[in-house]
Amino acid sequence: MSLKVNFKYAGELSSSDNLSAVQPEVNSAFDKLTDKTGEGSDFLGWLDLPVNYDKEEFLRIKKCAEKIRKDSEVLVVLGIGGSYLGARAAIEFVKSCNYNLLRKDTPAIYFGGNSLSSTSLSELISLVEGKDFSVNVISKSGTTTETAVAFRIFKKLIEDKYGKEEAKSRIYVTTDKKKGALKSLADAEGYEEFTVPDDVGGRYSVLTAVGLLPIAAAGLDIDLLMKGAADAREKYFVKNTDNDCLKYAALRNLLYRNGKRIEIMVSYEPSMTMWNEWLKQLFGESEGKDGKGLYPSSTVFSTDLHSMGQYIQQGVRNLFETVITVKNPIADVEIPFDEANGDGLNFIAGKTLHYVNSRAFQGTVLAHYDGQVPNILIEIEKQDEYNLGELIYFFELACAVSGYILGINPFNQPGVESYKKNMFALLGKPGYEKERDALEGRLK
Ligand code: PA5
Repeated sequence: MSLKVNFKYAGELSSSDNLSAVQPEVNSAFDKLTDKTGEGSDFLGWLDLPVNYDKEEFLRIKKCAEKIRKDSEVLVVLGIGGSYLGARAAIEFVKSCNYNLLRKDTPAIYFGGNSLSSTSLSELISLVEGKDFSVNVISKSGTTTETAVAFRIFKKLIEDKYGKEEAKSRIYVTTDKKKGALKSLADAEGYEEFTVPDDVGGRYSVLTAVGLLPIAAAGLDIDLLMKGAADAREKYFVKNTDNDCLKYAALRNLLYRNGKRIEIMVSYEPSMTMWNEWLKQLFGESEGKDGKGLYPSSTVFSTDLHSMGQYIQQGVRNLFETVITVKNPIADVEIPFDEANGDGLNFIAGKTLHYVNSRAFQGTVLAHYDGQVPNILIEIEKQDEYNLGELIYFFELACAVSGYILGINPFNQPGVESYKKNMFALLGKPGYEKERDALEGRLK
């Protein structure tokens, strides 16, 4: 285990007295997970996933990833929300946010079906032009419009290019075991199918085929990823007062109750931008309901210190930060000595850029702490699959416990339906006629 949590700059609420006071709530939240007595307890499959996963499917994922690496220059991954964020976050976290430009023996991975932007989809179509490509369409429900529309377009594209037979061997479907339009389509066409387990919701599904196939296709070691998650499970899925994951869950709630309404997920590595997006979905969709919940936000420093830094330092004092830093960077660069010293930087000549980044981090933590922004610090050893697996499990567990302490169901997302209903009505989907008239009237 390499993940280290430091509450030293988290303020008074992280004192042992304050944390002890909420310990009964933490225990009760934890028990809801182990006894499966909490709301949404049908969706707890992710808890044991690192040690209890479908080994046959895991091997098939590796085989298909190898085939994709051999026969495709591009893998198009179609999915939205929990059906894409984890894979994209993982690839960028371990490789780079410039993965598609820097990769050598692995396919470019482009993500689509995660918006309704015609410009974005047209771009994706031009990106595969003249290239050998495969498609992995991912949708647990099998009915998500963004993904389904993109797949309809890419199905035609791949069939026009390769013919129906070969296209069939280049389409990989990740969906429900039994139901949904995508499942029926995959059965009818004979596509290679992977399953999203019934008891794992979208935003907790990165360690299923949802995340694992694209992650493996990009050349990441998925055994190591699972090992990191399994070790984190062993360390954190225990009820004791020294458990930093449970402390974090408790402290988030204490901060929330004391007026800190926004949690900023901070990183000092641009390659963790999509990781932040994954975290935002995990917490936002899990906790933001019943008129409650911390609003998850994110920044990458020092970049955003030049945009959001001012607000964080002196704006409304309703913020706290959860900062993830990396001890050993993927790469480092030494700052050269310059005889003329026109920029006045010789005082850091011979130092590495990572050293400067670490000093920026330390200086920022102290400044924000002095500005009444509590900082929870998490350090990982390096950006590899193992450390990522640890982080994934740590945050999934923290989110579930935190959600139960908050008194909501961390595993549903009823609010997501409202925009869909309106959109379907406005698009003229059969069955929505009455709603359509009412909405059209309001848009006049
Ligand atoms: O976490 C969730 O449940 C959501 O973000 C879903 O993953 C997202 O809405 C996509 O759903 P589906 O996989 O059914 O297409």
